[in-house]
Amino acid sequence: MTSNEIRDKFLQFFKERNHTIVPSSSLIPDDPSVLLTTAGMQQFKPYYSELDPITTIHPSIKKPVGKNAASIQKSFRTSDIDEVGDESHLTFFEMLGNFSFGGYFKEEAIKFGYDFIAGKDWMGLDIEYVTIFDPDKVPLDDWRKGVPFDEESYHIWKKIGLPEEKIRRDGVDVFWGPTGNEGPCGPTTEIYVKNAEGKAVEIWNIVFNEFYRDKNMRLTPLKTPGVDTGMGLERLAMVSESVGSIFETDLFVPLIQVLELNDRSGRLNQRTKRIMADHARGISFLIADGVRPSNKETGYVLRRLLRRFVVNEYLNEGTNPYFEKLLHVIIENYGKFYGELDYDLIDTVFNEEKAKFMATIEKGLRELKAVEKLDAKAAFKLFESFGLPYEVVKELGGGKAEALTREDFEKEFDKHREISRAGVEKKFGGHGLILDTGELKAGNEEELKKVLRLHTATHLMQQALREVLGQGVHQMGSDITPERTRFDFSFDRKLTPEEIKQVEDKVNAIVQADYEVRFQEMARSEAEKTGALHFFKAKYPDQVKVYYVTPKGKGIPEAWSKEFCGGPHVTHTGEIGTFRIAKEEGIAQGVRRIRAVVE
Ligand code: ALA
Repeated sequence: MTSNEIRDKFLQFFKERNHTIVPSSSLIPDDPSVLLTTAGMQQFKPYYSELDPITTIHPSIKKPVGKNAASIQKSFRTSDIDEVGDESHLTFFEMLGNFSFGGYFKEEAIKFGYDFIAGKDWMGLDIEYVTIFDPDKVPLDDWRKGVPFDEESYHIWKKIGLPEEKIRRDGVDVFWGPTGNEGPCGPTTEIYVKNAEGKAVEIWNIVFNEFYRDKNMRLTPLKTPGVDTGMGLERLAMVSESVGSIFETDLFVPLIQVLELNDRSGRLNQRTKRIMADHARGISFLIADGVRPSNKETGYVLRRLLRRFVVNEYLNEGTNPYFEKLLHVIIENYGKFYGELDYDLIDTVFNEEKAKFMATIEKGLRELKAVEKLDAKAAFKLFESFGLPYEVVKELGGGKAEALTREDFEKEFDKHREISRAGVEKKFGGHGLILDTGELKAGNEEELKKVLRLHTATHLMQQALREVLGQGVHQMGSDITPERTRFDFSFDRKLTPEEIKQVEDKVNAIVQADYEVRFQEMARSEAEKTGALHFFKAKYPDQVKVYYVTPKGKGIPEAWSKEFCGGPHVTHTGEIGTFRIAKEEGIAQGVRRIRAVVE
C-alpha cells in the first residue's frame, strides 16, 4: 500500500465510524506552553479540559468537531534529532490520529486500533505484541506511580483474541505525559508490528486521557476524559511496504534517490543521506508555517537543521545545491495535501540563511579541525563565531567531541544569551551607541528616537489588533528599523480595510490621549499574573520588565497595553505621531505580516 493510500484508508476508516475529519493544524501551536506541534492531540488539547467539543466552533472547519475526530497532523520532535539516521526516527513526520472527547473510551478505541491494523480490508498486518500500563514498572518516585494497573485494557485485548504472551506490561513508556507544562494525560496501550528486518516497531500509541497533570506534576481526574491516538505515517508505511526502515518507504525513496543521483563523488554515506532527507522536509515545513532562522525558539531549531544540511552539502559536493532538488520532490509529493508549501518562499528563506552561513563555513570547519578539545565552551565558540551548530561539531568532531553533550552546550548558550542582553542595555544606557536588541536597530541618536516611537507604536498595535480581531492574535515576530516596524502575528485571513482602519484609529486615539509609558521590574510569576502579553515560548529570566501604557498617574491595573519587554520606549504616547499601516500580507498559513510607520 502506498502512503497516499494509507492516508486515504485511515481517514475513510474513521469517517465511516462517525469521526469528524479535521485538517492538520500548523506546526506552530496556539498553546503558550509548547514550542512546536509534537502530536495530533495538540490542536484538541482544550477539548479535554476547557472547551465543549459539541458547541465550540473549530477555527479550521468552521463548525463544532463533536465528540469524535480524526486527523493527519504535521508534527515535529526536536527530542528525536540525535536519533535521526536510524531506521525509525525523524524530526518532521505525519501523525495519524483518532480522538474522543467524552465519547467512546477503551473498549471502542482498542477495537478500532485492532480492526484498522489487523483487518483484512484495512492494513491487514500481524500484531507482534501490545503494551499496557503497569505501575510496578515505573520508578518509585515517578509522578505516574499512584495510577493503577490498566486491567481493563488487558481484558479488552484478551477478549479480542490476542494471546496473553502478546500483552506486555510496561511502565513509563506507556503513560502519555502532557505536551507543555500541564494538560491531559493518561495510560496508553501501544501496538507493535514487525518490520522487514524482523524488528518489532511501535506503530500506534492509544492514549486514554483520564487525568489532568498540573505544573506540580499532580494528577486530578480530567473534566472530559477521552481518547487520543497517534500513529506515525512513515512507520506505518515501513511495515506496510515491508521494508526495513522508514527511509526505504515511498515517502523517502524519491528523496534518497535525488541525493544519490547528485552525489557524483559517491561520498554520501547512508546516515548522511537520511539526515539530509529528514532535514530537507523539516526545513521546508517549518518555513512554510512561518518559522524564520534565528537564535531563539523555533527559529533556532530551523537554523540548526538548515546549517547542518548546508555543511553536508558543502562537504560532499562543494556547492552543489542538493536542497533545491529535494525541494522539488517535496513539493511534488506533499503539495497536494499541504497547500502552504511554497517553492519560492522556502527556497528564498533557505538561501538567505545559507548565504550568511557560507561566509564563515570554511573558516569554521578549519577551526573545528584545529581545536584540540571540543568541550561545550569550544563548541559554543564555533557556533558564535562561525555559525556551526552543535550537531555538526559533535558529528565532525569525532573523538575530540566525545565528552560534549547537548545539555552542556545549551547551558553555555543560555549563559551567553543573558550576558549579551545585559550588554545591550549597558551600551544603550551609557554611551548612546548603536542600538541592536535583535528587535530594534538604530545607528545614531536620530534613528534611535524614531525606533523608540515605532517600538511603542508596535505595542499599541498589538493591543489594538487583539481588540479588533480577537485574543487569538499572538505576536510571532517583529523587527524595527528607523523606517518602519514589521510585525508578524497569528491570524488566518486577510484583514479588511475596515479592520485596518479600526486598528489605526485605536492606536491613534491612545497617541492623542498622551498616555504614559512606564515599566516595572518584577518576578516572572508576578508579571504573568498581571496578564501582560509575552512570547509564551520564550525562556524569560526570573526577573522581567513589564512595559505598560496607562493614563497619566495610573498604574498597571488601569493600563491599556502591557507586555513583557526589555525596552526601550518613548515616555509618552504623544511622542509617537500619527500611526499608519502601510502594508498587510500573509507570509505563511495562519501568519500575517504588517508593516507600519509613524509620521
Ligand atoms: N499523543 C500521543 C502520541 O503522540 C498519541 O504518542
